[in-house]
Amino acid sequence: SSSFHTLYLKFYTLLNEEYKKNLTDVAISYLKNRGFSESEIEKYEFGFSPIDSDLPFKIARELNINSLRKLGFLHGKDPFSGRLIIPIKDEYGRVIAFGGRVLGEGQPKYINSYETDFFKKSSTLFLLDVAKDKIKSADFAIICEGYFDAIAFHRAGLTNSVATLGTAFTKYHARKIRKLTQNVVLSFDTDSAGIKAALLSLKILLSQNFNVMVVMYEGEKDPDEILKLKGSSELVDVVKSAIPAEVFVPKALSKKYDLKNSNAINMYLGELKQWDEVFKLVPKRQENFRNTIKEILGYDFDFSKSLSYKIREAT
Ligand code: GTP
Ligand code: MN
Ligand code: MN
Ligand code: MN
Ligand code: MN
Repeated sequence: SSSFHTLYLKFYTLLNEEYKKNLTDVAISYLKNRGFSESEIEKYEFGFSPIDSDLPFKIARELNINSLRKLGFLHGKDPFSGRLIIPIKDEYGRVIAFGGRVLGEGQPKYINSYETDFFKKSSTLFLLDVAKDKIKSADFAIICEGYFDAIAFHRAGLTNSVATLGTAFTKYHARKIRKLTQNVVLSFDTDSAGIKAALLSLKILLSQNFNVMVVMYEGEKDPDEILKLKGSSELVDVVKSAIPAEVFVPKALSKKYDLKNSNAINMYLGELKQWDEVFKLVPKRQENFRNTIKEILGYDFDFSKSLSYKIREAT
């Protein structure tokens, strides 16, 4: 009910304040080590959950809320205990959940609050509350996969960036962005998990008629690392070097196959054939797509001669 929603938001506001008050020197030096100034630490509202914290339960009691599960917690120990706290806000800037990172090494590296009626990972985009105006005015959104990646873009002045919560990018995420712009720059990690996620996200975005560019990072793994190693202007330059989706797809997929082997080439072309169907909706894109494949293979090709495509068609 709406009155529970009010209580829920109050709970998260109060808990966020408590976690912020408990930001220890160790957590502060962790953040300083990651390049944050005092004012940035305040701006992003980082907090810390003390060892043996019972803060969620204390605040729930104070608000006379019995159902911890409805708040995204279970009875017992504060799951965030000993972790750096990153508040997750809805698009209106209200805290609805937390991310918690281990200070240093450890597994799991991150945890989130459990999902609730008011917190769904599949439709939440980290930093959307601060990014939405800039997404509109710049007329594009940068989408990345990590909390610290979105923050890195913001620190570099690209405040039109948001992050998924480490889960897949969904059609619900896409709908939220679609209200603000038709243009997206995908900036996922350039490891195999990131490339896979980028390809899945692309399918969703293209089906909703977005124009998509993709950033490919050479060497470094993610935007946060680029900011730390090379600075703001380098990070902005990498975004400027984003390539169109129809060029990214053949390049990204080529890494999966040994293209000296004819069987592998057939499988590569078989996979690309499905993307050809997607890109053909815009003739210029299809042309670009096919030229890129030709460039990668070093010769002209014919999708209809792709063996795996033929097999798929015949079955
Ligand atoms: P940093 O090491 O802090 O820079 O993390 P990262 O953002 O580079 O992490 P990574 O690329 O491994 O993962 C991207 C995003 O996935 C993170 O920002 C988290 O939202 C999420 N994630 C990563 N590891 C875990 C995990 O162990 N559990 C959960 N639930 N989420 C995770
Ligand atoms: Mn990981
Ligand atoms: Mn990663
Ligand atoms: Mn990463
Ligand atoms: Mn990282």
